[in-house]
Amino acid sequence: MKRNSLTFRLALLLAAFSFVAFTVMGSALYYALRQQLSIRDDAALVSRVDQISTLLRDLDARQLIREKPHLFANMLGNTESLLVIRYVGGATLLEVNPMQRALPTVTPVAANQRLTLEAVHHANNADGTPMVYMAAISPSANNLPPLEIVSARVLSDRTHILEEYRNKIILFASMMAAISVVLAVIFARRGISPLRRLADRTATIGTQTLSSRLDKQDVPMELDALIDQINAMLERLERGFQQLKQVSADMAHDLRTPITTLLGQTEVGLGAARDNAYYQRLLGSNFEELQRMSRMIDNMLFLAQAEQPDQEIQRRDIDIVEETHRLGEYFEDLAAEREVTIQTHASGTVNADALLLRRALANLLSNAVRYAEPGSEIEIAARPEAEGMSIVVMNRGETISPAHQERLFDRFYRADPSRNDSAHSSGLGLSIVHSIMQLHKGRCWVESQSGVTRFGLWFPDRN
Ligand SMILES: Nc1ncnc2c1ncn2[C@@H]1O[C@H](COP(=O)(O)OP(=O)(O)OP(=O)(O)O)[C@@H](O)[C@H]1O
Ligand SMILES: [Mg+2]
Repeated sequence: MKRNSLTFRLALLLAAFSFVAFTVMGSALYYALRQQLSIRDDAALVSRVDQISTLLRDLDARQLIREKPHLFANMLGNTESLLVIRYVGGATLLEVNPMQRALPTVTPVAANQRLTLEAVHHANNADGTPMVYMAAISPSANNLPPLEIVSARVLSDRTHILEEYRNKIILFASMMAAISVVLAVIFARRGISPLRRLADRTATIGTQTLSSRLDKQDVPMELDALIDQINAMLERLERGFQQLKQVSADMAHDLRTPITTLLGQTEVGLGAARDNAYYQRLLGSNFEELQRMSRMIDNMLFLAQAEQPDQEIQRRDIDIVEETHRLGEYFEDLAAEREVTIQTHASGTVNADALLLRRALANLLSNAVRYAEPGSEIEIAARPEAEGMSIVVMNRGETISPAHQERLFDRFYRADPSRNDSAHSSGLGLSIVHSIMQLHKGRCWVESQSGVTRFGLWFPDRN
């Protein structure tokens, strides 16, 4: 799509608006003036015919017209006026028509009728110039024969005035449009300057200054929403960046512990000659540490992969009864070791990726077994609910405080690192559960009170 500058658009809009506004206003004035002039011309014509009619009642006047017609020609004053006086149905007494224009035939106003503006006719001359004309019978007085007066006026001067007026209107409207363009550019530039300042301020924000926020001072109110959104984005970025930093710090820390152990043990082993049993123990211990590191790296890789935006999963309908039973059996021995029992209550099917579902449930169950009170019972409850499947793993044990609950699903987060068996706990299990639920567009949650901890999953049905 073609991108136009805001200044250009504003300038064009203002120019078009002012041109239209001035043209409309000018046109209204033009038509009002034309109307006024037309009424004035009509009235002048009526009054002239009326005057001549009054004059013709006098015998001497008729005599004078016959003898000195040029006096009347002079009286009319210009070549635009036409006058014909003739006996009704008879000879012409006077004809003043310097340009020899053709006069349209017109029914005269009867002698006993008043002359009004309605008697005036309008037509266009052969050259297109408008013309007004009328005819009237002069009332016969003093036993004189009636006369017909035909008077006309070609309105070329009026046309000229109106034409000039119209041209001026167009000129002024165009000038105003041009002035508007210049003003619009100036105003738009000035109006946009807060945006430029905002851009400058945003440009100064980098990874080191993610905590800074844009303020609304000396910025127009219309930009408040934009600033709010940018600030909210900065907040999200800051949080994300902080998490990333935390993850790499935690990862370095978590790798350092087994590596330090490995280094220390190997160094001691190399320090002096040892018997076979010692080396076997050393290698066994090293193997465990290496296994732990390998598990952790696997988990990190899984999380990195799960975060790929185009990550696809293989969803199918899985019998949750069978799945939970199998899982219960799998953890039976470990549970027995810790003197806890596992109960399952399940019904229905869940639409999920089988491997990922198993992994999420295994993570929850391994936590439950690890943190359950000895002698207590762990319960897995799965049932269809709200267009999906809800699965809850419940165990009795120490209550997790709300502050910890909020962060349990973060990577490397452990509620109480000192209590955890660091050889087996990496703090990644729940973040993997969270990623799996995101891949399924589902939800996961935790609830812990009065010594009962519940972790819940909700898988949506196939859309
Ligand atoms: N059922 C539970 N009862 C009490 N605390 C729990 C429970 N499940 C998890 N937690 C707390 O949440 C923390 C994070 O659990 P998560 O599964 O992510 O990591 P982990 O179990 O410590 O390590 P990993 O699962 O990677 O071996 C645990 O360290 C523990 O403090
Ligand atoms: Mg765990």
